[in-house]
Amino acid sequence: MSKEIDRIAEMIVSSKRVVVLTGAGISTESGIPDFRGPQGLWKRVDPKIGTIEFFREHPDEFWRFQLDRLKEMMKAQPNRAHYALAELEKMGKLSAIITQNVDSLHFKAGSKNVIEIHGNLRTAKCIECGKVISIEEALKIIEEGVFPPKCRTCGGLLKTGSVLFNEPIPEEALTRAYMESEMCDLMMAIGTSLQVYPAAYLPVIAKRKGAKFIIINMEPTPLDEIADIVVHGKAGDILTAVVEKVKEKLGVKGS
Ligand code: OAD
Repeated sequence: MSKEIDRIAEMIVSSKRVVVLTGAGISTESGIPDFRGPQGLWKRVDPKIGTIEFFREHPDEFWRFQLDRLKEMMKAQPNRAHYALAELEKMGKLSAIITQNVDSLHFKAGSKNVIEIHGNLRTAKCIECGKVISIEEALKIIEEGVFPPKCRTCGGLLKTGSVLFNEPIPEEALTRAYMESEMCDLMMAIGTSLQVYPAAYLPVIAKRKGAKFIIINMEPTPLDEIADIVVHGKAGDILTAVVEKVKEKLGVKGS
């Protein structure tokens, strides 16, 4: 393992543009379950609850499910993996994080250039008039007894700001994600099963443009065969060790 840590650190140091793609696995150490890991959410819950069709047909059940997740995410704090990435960015060694997560933990850890391709849970949006409000405002509407919550302006149904299955990815986020994938010379996929598109396609774009590709994940993924390095283990342990090595190589002191 220490040989891989050293190789990863060396690649980060010698790259000009490092981009990271993260998934639910980076937040499990913060107490938020992933979807497809051994304790994954989709092992307990039918994934159809995450579709736009389910939301339209059963908005009350959808909101009950989302409220549970929201509670979990609101109390969660960033873990060592999130902080390690924020530190890499501060050192000028990480250009962007493309995340599939909606938990805001990269921002909470201090990362700045974060592209949330699956949206986030900081907002809610009216599916009729398109008005966007804060999630706190949506919770207030629920507290006032309107469930599922409705838009104060037009009475339309409110939906959380996270992207559901069969819904398009927000255009600006997707364009930025494609651009970063084309421009980077090193991509690292961390804590993602790389089974959901278009996220799983981003490393393929990066590789085609000549970038190196590293996977840090607990389990094998379908893209292991195109990766230059695959490390199996906990993102918190591995990234902490990698950042220490990067600092050593750059001659940066302290944390
Ligand atoms: P998954 O749950 O599919 O994959 C998470 C991966 O992280 C698994 O392969 C785990 O083995 C690994 N993992 C878990 N804990 C880890 C840790 N501490 N360190 C390293 N690896 C760890 O999550 P995503 O790939 O993010 O979409 O899933 C993609 C999308 O599918 C999600 O954004 C969500 C989901 O359905 C929507 O809801 C639209």
